[in-house]
Amino acid sequence: ERGLVIAIDGPAASGKGTLARRLAAHFGLPHLDTGLLYRATACALLDDGRPLDDIRAAVEAARGLALCDFDEARLRSRELGEASSVVAAIPQVRAALIEMQRSFASRSEGAVLDGRDIGTVICPDAVVKIFVTASAEKRAQRRALELASRGERVDYAHILEDIRRRDERDSGRSSAPLKIADDATRLDTTDLDIEEAFAAACAIVQEKA
Ligand code: C5P
Repeated sequence: ERGLVIAIDGPAASGKGTLARRLAAHFGLPHLDTGLLYRATACALLDDGRPLDDIRAAVEAARGLALCDFDEARLRSRELGEASSVVAAIPQVRAALIEMQRSFASRSEGAVLDGRDIGTVICPDAVVKIFVTASAEKRAQRRALELASRGERVDYAHILEDIRRRDERDSGRSSAPLKIADDATRLDTTDLDIEEAFAAACAIVQEKA
């Protein structure tokens, strides 16, 4: 018998990370935030003084990732949100990260993974697939609060701009673009608070699993 795999995808700041963490805790499953893999790859390049379009260096950084070597606050910064979506558009970088994501998902107890292509590319056979969305304005508000709570100086208009640019880059790239899987359930969190969104996600898991 195979474990329960829950695939959560959606655009930047849709609330998918929080939902994935909550679902993992609730169902007792390990959780992988796959955005951190792309953020850490970009971080390694920047720290080495390499341009983000240096494919060889980017692939090497992706292959050599040890997430524990990074400061999570730095990885979640605005700078790395932007840089990660640039390296994430490189097909060779995506290829270098597939196996570790699939091996995480194949643990016997199951797993929760969140990202952009979990339901479409990484775990096409996942029993539960949730595509989390929210309006760009609502996502910008949430991201601004999140960054401010970590002491980063933020400007709402810039954050909204970042989010729109990242949506466009993530949806428009040819390699594993952000899109809803045919068999995913859409969850729009624009008008939901965390508890409401979590309850809705649990209901989807219960229905599908
Ligand atoms: O989810 P998060 O905002 O941390 O992801 C950072 C960037 O990494 C995204 O904008 C996207 O370009 C990329 N990403 C991806 N595929 C995933 C997860 C993240 O392309 N599965």
